[in-house]
Amino acid sequence: MRTIIEPFRIKSVEPIRMTSPAEREAILAAAGYNLFRIPSDDIVIDLLTDSGTGAMSAEQWAAVMRGDESYAGSPSFRRFEKAVRDITGFAHVIPTHQGRAAERILATTMLRAGDVVPNNTHFDTTRANIEAVGATALDLASPASRELSASAPFKGDIDLEALAALLENPPSRVPVVFVTVTNNGGGGQPVSMANLRAASGLCRRHGVPFYLDACRFAENAYFIRQRETGYAGKSLLEIAREMFALADGCTMSAKKDGMANIGGFLCSNDERLARAETELLILTEGFPTYGGLAGRDLEAIAVGLYEALDLSYQQYRHASVQYLGEHLTAAGVPILQPPGGHAIYVDAASFLAHLPREQFPGQALAIELYRHAGIRSVEVGSVMFGRRDPATGIEQPGPNELVRLAMPRRVYTQSHVDYIVETFAEITAERHRISGVRIVEQPAALRHFTAIFETVSLA
Ligand code: F0G
Repeated sequence: MRTIIEPFRIKSVEPIRMTSPAEREAILAAAGYNLFRIPSDDIVIDLLTDSGTGAMSAEQWAAVMRGDESYAGSPSFRRFEKAVRDITGFAHVIPTHQGRAAERILATTMLRAGDVVPNNTHFDTTRANIEAVGATALDLASPASRELSASAPFKGDIDLEALAALLENPPSRVPVVFVTVTNNGGGGQPVSMANLRAASGLCRRHGVPFYLDACRFAENAYFIRQRETGYAGKSLLEIAREMFALADGCTMSAKKDGMANIGGFLCSNDERLARAETELLILTEGFPTYGGLAGRDLEAIAVGLYEALDLSYQQYRHASVQYLGEHLTAAGVPILQPPGGHAIYVDAASFLAHLPREQFPGQALAIELYRHAGIRSVEVGSVMFGRRDPATGIEQPGPNELVRLAMPRRVYTQSHVDYIVETFAEITAERHRISGVRIVEQPAALRHFTAIFETVSLA
């Protein structure tokens, strides 16, 4: 069969409140043209993030009822630990309330001021946790990732030459090397097994622990199965185990490929390190058999990790992201190529080429998607990564001007995707009429969450 269907039936539904253009105009104005400030029940299709926004399965809900909420020694923890160990092979499993808590515990125990931590691309919470202890987060994305429109199978790879040079001649201590699978900061692009193997080999030669930021490990395993020689006949579980076997530990946000609404974990094979991490866990998250989670969350994750490795689920997920990417490309919308595992990234700088960078084309497109059709996306451009010089007021743009359309897991069907495609087709025809924006109010840090914008009239 050529048609790839959603490999599930729908048992429980959540109504979408449809809004009129006039309502949306008023909602936008009230939110200061910042989509983070819009109540989610005023959104028609929410593509803000794929994190914690997925639908749980009947088996997960059944497991939730089995959740044992004992403070110590809960069997829910044993089931969670068994699943994580079975898939990752790591000896020590520390439950946390989400990915960034695992990052914080790792940064506090493994790092000190002046250290350098490389990664293909650090996610912003990983970077922030590394910087919070005075260390430097270094991005070593592969050269292929810099060409937005060029297609390559593994644009998420870490730059091995740069990593080798760094480890040969470290400017200061390098206590851990990370690779993020898939590379969210680089467009949800996968990392090949060959690249992971080579990075792991370099780290072992230099005695440096090698870690995975494993949030989207199952999506990455599917890409390896599809694109890398020798993996077509393997199960996703086998591929995932091979990925984890190359690493000494991982951080994980179970809100992605844990198929859960909350949760995370930190793993390692190093007993002394795990003991120090557990001490901090008790201080900041909770007792070691629940971390920052309820027993029911541990149960949902224990089931969800395997569901993410189900081949027909990944076929559907990749087909729907790819379908969106192909149809946008056919409609003349420039996107980061090829489509990522969890999201499509639109190149707003070239889509809205009439807008100067200081008028935030990414934000302008995100606003227009909401105005036109109630779609919420997220700007990954100069609002998020740019800076205003406090002395001169001059805006320093970010490296790219992207708008991310992140697909929640098992939530939207093909007709929802068609609605997104149609929205873009309509916007494309009138794009020269889309105005830019300026920031009228912003906080000192993380301005994208709370800044207030106003429209700039077209010249
Ligand atoms: N690492 C990566 C690669 C991520 O994408 C995220 C979260 C985290 C770590 C942090 O995990 O949210 O559970 O604390 N990414 C979400 C996103 C927020 O929208 O991409 P968390």
